Amino acid sequence: MPLDLAMITTGTDAAPWRSPERHWPALTAATAGLDAPVGALHLGALRHNAHDMVRRAHGTPIRIASKSVRVRSVIEALLRRPGYHGVLAYTLAEALWLADTVDDLVVGYPTAERGSIRRLATDPDLASRITLMVDSTQQLDLIDAVLPPAQREEIRVCLELDASWHAPVLGHLGVRRSPVHDPADAGALAAYVVRRPGFRLVGMMSYEAQIAGVVNRPAGRPVDGAVNRWMQSRSLPELLERRARAVAAVREHADLEFVNGGGTGSLEATAADASITEIAAGSGLFGGHLFDGYAHFTPAPAAAFALDVVRSPSPAHATILGGGWIASGPRRRGRAVVDKPAIQYVVRERLHVTGVARGLSTPTT
Ligand SMILES: Cc1ncc(COP(=O)(O)O)c(C=O)c1O
Repeated sequence: MPLDLAMITTGTDAAPWRSPERHWPALTAATAGLDAPVGALHLGALRHNAHDMVRRAHGTPIRIASKSVRVRSVIEALLRRPGYHGVLAYTLAEALWLADTVDDLVVGYPTAERGSIRRLATDPDLASRITLMVDSTQQLDLIDAVLPPAQREEIRVCLELDASWHAPVLGHLGVRRSPVHDPADAGALAAYVVRRPGFRLVGMMSYEAQIAGVVNRPAGRPVDGAVNRWMQSRSLPELLERRARAVAAVREHADLEFVNGGGTGSLEATAADASITEIAAGSGLFGGHLFDGYAHFTPAPAAAFALDVVRSPSPAHATILGGGWIASGPRRRGRAVVDKPAIQYVVRERLHVTGVARGLSTPTT
């Protein structure tokens, strides 16, 4: 049965979703008889988040950032809802896989997957629905090296503009996503791409990670919050002005179908940018703890992962089987996939994690 993410009606009481202790017991009850490891989604919380993100995007369509969801049925269900359109995939192989049921895919990073490029480039249907990310002529060369223009379909490409802030004194703030930072460079690359046979420039993307992905009210860290808010209040106007000029410079050469920006943390701010036609977002759907520290929205925790407590070496300790993905041995920064797991709501016991998730067991008190 397909997943139904029909939106909750506007005005429905959001309070239960904002207080996990009110909706978490239902997940506990529903999974109590299952063998661990158990992954579960709370549909009510997910619907609430999906609805709230559309509200925050204020009419700008949301392209689902698949790397933050990774559950195909959820992606497909969201795409049946108003407010969601298309997927920002994280690899070309993933985009090809999703293309069975998703008709508009942008690969969020440049690709060097030769086999996947060949598949894309020899299938007119796929080539008409999947867009590749570029920020340099070398990525075009690589595609041509796999198959020259005369032997393949035209490839749709999206030009990525770096959204980071080159702050006076402080220097570079943000993610180094693209060498193309200045509007003039964006315009020059666009002019080059449109002259080059075998490519069609259809979109632009710029992801303001320093605004969308940096918390502005971290719990217990008021100074960090104030610094981040100051940084974001300075970075946003710089980006809006520069992005507008860059989009205009690219539009002189290509009739863009979309201009993508933002993420879960910046839905309101990015929607207010007149240069943007869509926002890529995903993390707010499952509402992981990384997204607890924002002042302007509160996603409901919607995804759960449960493991078994298998022993209790002392009354103050319990050991969970599994939960980590590192070698056994002493816990040190850099050894764990997640250094500080935020296991806050647990299914069967009230636990606090005292150690990082380890290779086979996770110490807790
Ligand atoms: C290009 C791009 N856009 C948007 C996002 C935002 O995703 P999320 O809403 O999951 O933070 C990301 C996440 O890394 C991204 O890489």
